[in-house]
Amino acid sequence: RKDDLTTIVVFGASGDLAKKKTFPALFHLYVSNLLPLHSRIFGYARSNLSREDFEARVTANIGKTPEERAKIPGFLKICDYIQGQYDKGEDFRRLLENIVKQERVMTADIYSDYENAVINKRNKRVFYLALPPSQFVSVASQIKQNAYDPKHVNRLVIEKPFGNDSESSHQLSEDIGKLFSEDEVYRIDHYLGKEMVKNILALRFANVFYQAVWNKEHIANIQIVFKETIGTEGRGGYFDNVGIIRDVIQNHLLQVLSIVAMEEPSSLKSEDIRDQKTEVLKKIKPIGLDQVLLGQYTKSADGSKPGYKDDAGVPENSNTPTFAEMVLEIDNDRWRGVPWVIKAGKALDNAKVLIRIQFKERSGDMFPDLARNELVVQVSPEEAIYMKTLVKEPGLSTNLTISELDLTYRSRFEGIKIPDAYSTLILDVLNGDHSNFVRADELEEAWRIVTPLLHQIDSGKVEPLPYPYGSRGPEGVDEFPELRAGYKVPEI
Ligand code: BG6
Repeated sequence: RKDDLTTIVVFGASGDLAKKKTFPALFHLYVSNLLPLHSRIFGYARSNLSREDFEARVTANIGKTPEERAKIPGFLKICDYIQGQYDKGEDFRRLLENIVKQERVMTADIYSDYENAVINKRNKRVFYLALPPSQFVSVASQIKQNAYDPKHVNRLVIEKPFGNDSESSHQLSEDIGKLFSEDEVYRIDHYLGKEMVKNILALRFANVFYQAVWNKEHIANIQIVFKETIGTEGRGGYFDNVGIIRDVIQNHLLQVLSIVAMEEPSSLKSEDIRDQKTEVLKKIKPIGLDQVLLGQYTKSADGSKPGYKDDAGVPENSNTPTFAEMVLEIDNDRWRGVPWVIKAGKALDNAKVLIRIQFKERSGDMFPDLARNELVVQVSPEEAIYMKTLVKEPGLSTNLTISELDLTYRSRFEGIKIPDAYSTLILDVLNGDHSNFVRADELEEAWRIVTPLLHQIDSGKVEPLPYPYGSRGPEGVDEFPELRAGYKVPEI
């Protein structure tokens, strides 16, 4: 609502996430007039930043066009920096004083008295933790003790990693759950803010023709693919404790899978959606070693690109996978018997994130030996939906050919700027919409699926297969799903 007062505190304001994602997203909302009229943003961090230093960080990644640049001074006016420790009550109390001071200033514009605004729950305080997970609980607990007031609307935003296996994730949820109610917590998985991921719901449930064929009767297999061309490039020290499964599969790709696979929610309300996502994850058994092909990249064939183990911080004997391909099954009436192939890797031959749904062959003798229909939803690099469709070869021929109904967003929705995932997610937080955030029970299910496998990898029992930087993946990458599915799954 226009007369709401909104305060956003960005913890970790001097860090990379804030600089690259959080501040640009807030600026984007500001420029688009989507930040509530009465908003204040506080950056909070340990570093002793001057006003200039702070402004330099806030503006480092914004203002690409002259129109945007013209809005920077106005944006900076609503931003303030507060230096403080993450474990000192007095610093958080000082933060609260500043919040209240600014709220009173904002109230003066619209309400006769501050208490009235508070009583009507017109005050929102969003605490955004752009921090490493080791700080989550301590900062959340400082907020709770020193900067939390139940008379206001309080929201806590955190971002993955949420633990590194079932147990640690459960512990984190429990610790956070003692401080903030689930309703107050927003767990960011930035894939849920991506245009084409958000689109799945519309595609599936607003179109009668997809709704009708979205099941094992008509679908042969589904592939969810995440390919990057870059390796870990200097992040190896961090990545080695993570690996590709924790980095993108447990979170981003299982989230995508749950939306593609879930039953129709009874409404668009966030809890109805999240109930269905959780339900479908419950129907997936933990992945066994025989369901997965693991790889680790080595030097490129021409020697120009380094191998994973050449990255500083990666131990010589590391068995951390930088590639994983797995075939899952969902044990419910809609999907029983349909293979779900998840493929993710770094340092591969091309950069693509997509969902590919391959339909079964048409039955009957009228058109024998036809290629299969496919629906592809491309998440990146370019948003697109295309449907491989059989048509008669144009002209005098009566042969059939496979072509594409192509909905490439750049050409179809010319001039529309697709927002960064973080802008849409922060807007959701401001609106109190949880649909695109991960609930504790969903998180638990996703970890349950991958934890036994991760433990086997962590204990050193598994050796990933080598693949050269820039290749399609380890040997067997194309045959692996075929072996599991019992028929050829098309290559990507
Ligand atoms: C992050 C991973 O969560 O997602 C990165 O930690 C990965 O390793 C990134 O590169 C991919 O996100 P996007 O938005 O670039 O597809």
